Amino acid sequence: MKFYIETVGCQMNALDSELAAAALISNGWERLATRKDADLVIFNTCSVREHAEEKIYSALGRLKHWKTQKPGSLIAVMGCMAQKDKGVVFQRAPYVDIVVGPGRLDQLVELVNLAIATGEPQLAVSLDRFQRRDMPRETRESFRQFDPIRLPETRPRVFQAMVRIMFGCDKFCSYCVVPSARGPEQCRPPRDILEEVKTLADQGCLEITLLGQTVNSYRYVEDGKTTRLAELLEMIDRVPGIRRVRFVSSYPTDMTDELLAAVRDLPTSTPYLHVPAQHGDNGVLQRMRRRYSVEEYKELVDRIYETIPGAAITSDFIVGFCGETEEEFQRTIDLVRYARFKNSFIFKYSERPGNEASKRYADDVPEEVKKRRNNELLAVQNEISAELNRRFLGETVEILVEGPSKREARSVAQEETLYAECETQEDASPTRDADNFTSLDALVSTGSSSNTQLTGRTPCDRIVVFNGSTTLTGTFQRVRITDTAPFTLFGELAD
Ligand code: SAH
Ligand code: SF4
Ligand code: F3S
Repeated sequence: MKFYIETVGCQMNALDSELAAAALISNGWERLATRKDADLVIFNTCSVREHAEEKIYSALGRLKHWKTQKPGSLIAVMGCMAQKDKGVVFQRAPYVDIVVGPGRLDQLVELVNLAIATGEPQLAVSLDRFQRRDMPRETRESFRQFDPIRLPETRPRVFQAMVRIMFGCDKFCSYCVVPSARGPEQCRPPRDILEEVKTLADQGCLEITLLGQTVNSYRYVEDGKTTRLAELLEMIDRVPGIRRVRFVSSYPTDMTDELLAAVRDLPTSTPYLHVPAQHGDNGVLQRMRRRYSVEEYKELVDRIYETIPGAAITSDFIVGFCGETEEEFQRTIDLVRYARFKNSFIFKYSERPGNEASKRYADDVPEEVKKRRNNELLAVQNEISAELNRRFLGETVEILVEGPSKREARSVAQEETLYAECETQEDASPTRDADNFTSLDALVSTGSSSNTQLTGRTPCDRIVVFNGSTTLTGTFQRVRITDTAPFTLFGELAD
């Protein structure tokens, strides 16, 4: 039996797809790169914005025809939209066979087997956290942890892996659906995380990305001893074979001095911090229920730049949140100029039913205004990104080579970003920058493996495009930067 998984959403979803694939493969299934010959098509979905959901439902709509032509085939919906919409998925797409929430992925294989055996639709989701605030323990237990074996063949690149250190989120930002889709914050024991990192290192993994919705809030107490992210980074630093470690996403108020010192001092830690600010106005931050002021965020930015030389900070922003005035929006622009982010992911506010913002505030900023503010903020950010990148001209950087830059493949551009479903970032994708670098065209078309256009990443997470042999994939190389664009550095091998 063969399966195909399509994934949207954040890196949590990318990791879940990888783990779901590992679970199926361990049970005798084969993974396909396209849907055509699949017996099982899985959609790993995202609910963070309405747009993401609409895209899934229309993709499901297109699958109806495919399914009628392929008797016995199955369609499964997993991920955050499965948890949020539950049985509604069957109403909107009656030909779906399996709906499984992120807190029930441990049941995926069993549900697939049941669907095959019975021909009946299968549903497994956790309790509704927005509705069942009176049942915290039951709710927590209904979001089960899922950490099956890691299989190298399920990763896009064997030498890079994501490792989840915590499930869920307890911050309850008013606009967000994640605390209900992913459930309560649950930190994994340090020993399990370390075991997983060692397994990955044995598989040839050089670079680890630790994942958590608020990854720097990580805290695990055992026998009176508290382990936080700084200690975890130290433990991972000692694992032979691991050369680089980074972590996403950080919550601004949980960025301790100890953590910043660890990032500065540990040889494997990299100076890249994704710390979403979301907005630059205190009134809006309060309505968003973020737990800091703009002044505190700016202090954090100062502290990061003072502690970690060459630090690259990135952020997420929401424009057009309920009641956002022009003055409030301008303060977001001011913050972007102040913080000099390497890049920012910018999103138009999308109302999500059930959360606090949807109950308390009207989604009253018109779509055209959201769009204009989005573009305005993006233009300011792009200017800053371009300027920061220009400073690399003539410098030599150490990169981990990720492989050929498949300019024609859209999926590569998506894979490179933190969020696979992210309209604004499309314009900022590395492929676009590479497209503009016309002088590489001739080199690429020669098709010679010793002179292929390759990409790699600097420790501060900048993408570098250069020419070299594909055999360099998965090695560290020094590259001298000869040209720059807002989201890409271009260079040549230094050695
Ligand atoms: N846990 C991460 C982000 C998770 S969601 C963090 O807190 O940093 C990814 C991003 O989507 C958020 O940072 C936010 O900018 C955006 N987002 C979340 N809910 C949204 C909504 N309702 N409308 C628009 N953007 C949203
Ligand atoms: Fe959502 Fe806020 Fe949690 Fe991030 S911290 S996942 S934005 S609730
Ligand atoms: Fe989307 Fe769920 Fe991630 S809602 S952004 S896939 S946690």
